[in-house]
Amino acid sequence: MYLTNEQEAILNGENGPVEERLFRLLVRLGDIYGAEKMIPVGSVQVAGVSFKSIKLPGTEFLEDMAGKGAKVKVLTYLNPAGMDIEDWKEYGFPEEFATNQMRIMDAFRAMGIVVTATCTPYLAGNLPRFREHIAWSESSAVSFSNSVIGARTNREGGPSALAAAICGVTPDYGLHRDENRTPDVVIDIETDLDFSSDFGALGYHVGKLIKNKKPYFKGIRNANTDQLKALGAAMAASGAVALYHAEELTPEAHLMDTSGLETISVSGSDIQETYDKLNTGEEPDIVIFGCPHASLREIASVAEKVEGKTLTKPVWIATSRVMKEAAERMGYREIIEAAGGKIVADTCCVVSPIEDMGYNTTGVNSGKAANYLPGFCKQNVVFTNIDDLIAKQE
Ligand code: F3S
Repeated sequence: MYLTNEQEAILNGENGPVEERLFRLLVRLGDIYGAEKMIPVGSVQVAGVSFKSIKLPGTEFLEDMAGKGAKVKVLTYLNPAGMDIEDWKEYGFPEEFATNQMRIMDAFRAMGIVVTATCTPYLAGNLPRFREHIAWSESSAVSFSNSVIGARTNREGGPSALAAAICGVTPDYGLHRDENRTPDVVIDIETDLDFSSDFGALGYHVGKLIKNKKPYFKGIRNANTDQLKALGAAMAASGAVALYHAEELTPEAHLMDTSGLETISVSGSDIQETYDKLNTGEEPDIVIFGCPHASLREIASVAEKVEGKTLTKPVWIATSRVMKEAAERMGYREIIEAAGGKIVADTCCVVSPIEDMGYNTTGVNSGKAANYLPGFCKQNVVFTNIDDLIAKQE
């Protein structure tokens, strides 16, 4: 790989041992994937934040890095942590877990990372521009930024994202390059999609079928950004789709040539079968919305639906701190809490320790959450739309 004189100097340790070690990791990655050079990144999103995922060894690694003076060079955000960083006690997160989670947040803060923990950084102050190179980790954020925004990122692992943040560059390969962003298969949608959960079911179905290919959707009549984030999240979870195009909906779609590609049709019965397959429980102990993290529009919609009702079982909405504060200002938090629900920031249904908090069956409207909850959180899953889920908790 071609390296500039400054980059050679980093490898020779001139910027200290931390940057040398992390830059070496990026060079190795670039060599593996045939990158010819490093490219600057505009922003980074680092995964591996919840104590549930990284445990003590990961915590000590981050503290060691912070202790050695590691500092990020570009705007860097975090993936969800294991709890609401401010209101964890009120929501019943275990004390010992909280102590360890705060050690992790302190280490990231010391490195100059914005300790806002969300899988929707683009809704919380970290919005890349079209064609901007970035290095993000969380699979739904990667899908959204590549597909809906038209920014460029591979799906980074925790260490390679941290390395990109501290070195300010990433190797030029994969989805950073035009030639790797063309579609492999056309997905023809022959049914109406109404709820976000329908988009999640579609994403789950397509991800299972096409694995890591790049789909080009035709026939989606309309979709807002919340529905597109639900679609991308589920495809990245059941498959490994990091980029999709959707006719008339995503910014690079009109640049793509789909002639000669295989076409897969998706019917209403495919969507229904996906719901059936993902439902492993009946009555949720808890319902958690916000996978990916809820937008303000999604929080407003829950508020509107629960206003004046009494929820007899827990309902959480997972979101970013920024959205939680906006929801508070708009009075949505008050409405949701008056009904018995909670807006939980900085964490999510999968990376919080819900299995240790007495919950066995979780209701979700997210195809991604339905995919991961059985394995990561030992949960039975009720996967359906927002209206059904609210009705089940009344
Ligand atoms: Fe985000 Fe957690 Fe879902 S990271 S996409 S809310 S599993």
